[in-house]
Amino acid sequence: MLPVGKIHRVSEEAPVRTIWWDAASNSVKMIDQRKLPLTFEVAEYDDYRALAEAITAMVIRGAPAIGAAGAFGLALAARQSRARTPQGLIADLEAAKTVLDAARPTAVNLAWATERVLRRVRSTVHGTVREVADMVLAEAERIAEEDVAINRRMGAYGAAIIPDGANILHHCNTGSLATVDYGTALGVVRAAVEQGKKVHVWVDETRPRLQGARLTAWELMRESIPMTLIADNAAGHLMRTGRVDVVLFGADRVAANGDVANKIGTYKLAVCAKENGIPCYSVVPTSTIDLSLPHGDAIPIEERGWEEVACFGGVQVAPDGVAVYNPAFDVTPHRYLTGIITEEGICYPPFAESLRQAKERAEARIKEV
Ligand code: MRU
Repeated sequence: MLPVGKIHRVSEEAPVRTIWWDAASNSVKMIDQRKLPLTFEVAEYDDYRALAEAITAMVIRGAPAIGAAGAFGLALAARQSRARTPQGLIADLEAAKTVLDAARPTAVNLAWATERVLRRVRSTVHGTVREVADMVLAEAERIAEEDVAINRRMGAYGAAIIPDGANILHHCNTGSLATVDYGTALGVVRAAVEQGKKVHVWVDETRPRLQGARLTAWELMRESIPMTLIADNAAGHLMRTGRVDVVLFGADRVAANGDVANKIGTYKLAVCAKENGIPCYSVVPTSTIDLSLPHGDAIPIEERGWEEVACFGGVQVAPDGVAVYNPAFDVTPHRYLTGIITEEGICYPPFAESLRQAKERAEARIKEV
């Protein structure tokens, strides 16, 4: 069933972010990414359960974007709550967190963001129900604002490793649409372009949901960044024939040892990059680093429906009743990565140490605010 939400058709030129809080209607608005690039629509949610369904249905997707969605989902839950005491409201928010966190299991940014909001309100002993609800919204807004600033910091660090004239191979969508704005790996590409570097991006189509063909191509073409769309299966050929200088992708979760879970197909790219001596980087905000998991095999891998693989453009292309296995992510062992680019700088091996330090610096920054 499609998530229940209002749909607005808006001009493609509208200056909107991927997701935002609409104060006039007390609702969450987001670009409906299932419709792009053919239709630009904004979906609106005033119910956190419908918002959770929208995350599962990938109306919004991309690890940092769904983190912001989870935080705004709690702001909706706070407004929906009938609690008469702050303690009652916090209990309702804990229940809403469970629903929201379950919407997509691999991207740790979701649980990270809802936990951050709850940590903020749990530490409050004073205040009315209304004041606590306002605090939830304020923290969600802060997470969204910070995401944009963090992406720009990652972009600045990452642009340094992009040579002028580089051919960059990119997987899935890590741009403005995967975040609140600007992007992670595509943020690095943007920053390199802003510095005056000439780059060209090989855009993996990214089967089965075609985030590369539909979303990354749309974003890069709107900004006139030179790009060429390729079938996923062409990537190895391009690497072996010397037409790729650097491989860039994001991640949905990074384990303590530097293993990264990212869109299915990433592992093959990283192995191929190493075989051909091509630098390979994952670009992530520190909220994607999960130090509680020792290695990538502990990361839960989301499995999605058969129709994503057996159908193309809504048309079934495989026989009726075909058996389908559809893992949405894979794990790339850290030995295939040259570095992990974060808003706290570029982490290099040994990742266990460099990631822990980056995470500590980021947490100290949040506490200062
Ligand atoms: O299934 P999706 O489209 O949510 O997967 C997105 C990705 O795999 C991205 O590479 C990842 O979230 C990092 S994006 C900033």
